[in-house]
Amino acid sequence: MIVLGIETSCDETAVGLVDRGKKIMGHSVVSSVAFHRRYGGVVPEIACRHHVELVTYCIEDALRQAGVGLRDVGLIAVTYGPGLTGALLVGITAAKSLSIALKVPLLGVNHLHAHLYAALMTHAVWPKRSVGLIISGGHTALTTLQGVSGHRVMGQTRDDAVGEAFDKVGKLLGLGYPGGPEVERAALAGDPDKIRFSVPKIKSGTEWDFSFSGIKTAALRRVEEARRHNEFDGRFVADMSAGFQRSVTDELIQKSLLACRRTRARALLAGGGVAANQYLRGRLQEACQLERIRLYLPPPMLTTDNAAMVAGLGGRLYDAGGLHASWALTAEPNLGMR
Ligand code: KG4
Ligand code: ZN
Repeated sequence: MIVLGIETSCDETAVGLVDRGKKIMGHSVVSSVAFHRRYGGVVPEIACRHHVELVTYCIEDALRQAGVGLRDVGLIAVTYGPGLTGALLVGITAAKSLSIALKVPLLGVNHLHAHLYAALMTHAVWPKRSVGLIISGGHTALTTLQGVSGHRVMGQTRDDAVGEAFDKVGKLLGLGYPGGPEVERAALAGDPDKIRFSVPKIKSGTEWDFSFSGIKTAALRRVEEARRHNEFDGRFVADMSAGFQRSVTDELIQKSLLACRRTRARALLAGGGVAANQYLRGRLQEACQLERIRLYLPPPMLTTDNAAMVAGLGGRLYDAGGLHASWALTAEPNLGMR
């Protein structure tokens, strides 16, 4: 069955066509990031307007890539949260319209769950018990996973999400927006031992929770100090990017592996925009190899927001008896993993 997925939770308008939960036939993503850059973050109004303008184009583009027509689509899957309310509503409205016009079922998909699914999409055999690490611009969480829909949150960030921390540090360093890819690029020329950061211990919450606001404040102090001493130059930016990237990676790896050990999981899945980071991917691979844990990472094109992961997960959930959404389906901006 061909599933058409729609994703409009943030600044990417995306439509994906996926056959049997796995085979990507069409993958259309248009980002409005260029229009948010001057504000240093996503402006919801601007994101919504672009979704309205782009969603029809993306549907047509994905169908063209797949070489199929709307009549070949058997299910519509759409992200209904978490995300920006207005942005989500554009995708949900488009999905409902298609579902009514084509007389095919509609299924709501959790964006965070879809980020993890992206890591499994191309795999025939799924790990029985695994730990999931969600690392995006809006979320940082560790979950246990059993099969396609059984997950339980172990911990999450108490403050900034990891992608948000990359973006804020990028901004402090005068790099472009979004900061994640820019910090990664700058770090290539840096020495991670020059400027060290320690991730502070969390005072509240559980041992599985994350906190990244302390490291961001430490970064701010270092930048202020460097400016005072006239040391804020290309070398400083590179060393600080490398030091920050390494500390954050250490923290993510340490907690993920501990979670695998504690739950006796033999597989780790990671998904979300930060999983595009090549340094993090390499370090995760090394660490998992040492621990004999199987690592599942999405291909780079499925790490940041896209709708192939939505269509893929929608198809899997539907096959597993997932409930169709009613016409009452609406945006849930604060939806967690449940
Ligand atoms: O998953 P995503 O596209 O959107 C959300 O669901 O939030 O993640 C976007 C986040 C941004 O914060 C961006 O800076 C970060 O992912 N990101 C990266 C890299 N590419 C994107 N962070 C670090 N290194 C990267 N290469
Ligand atoms: Zn996302």
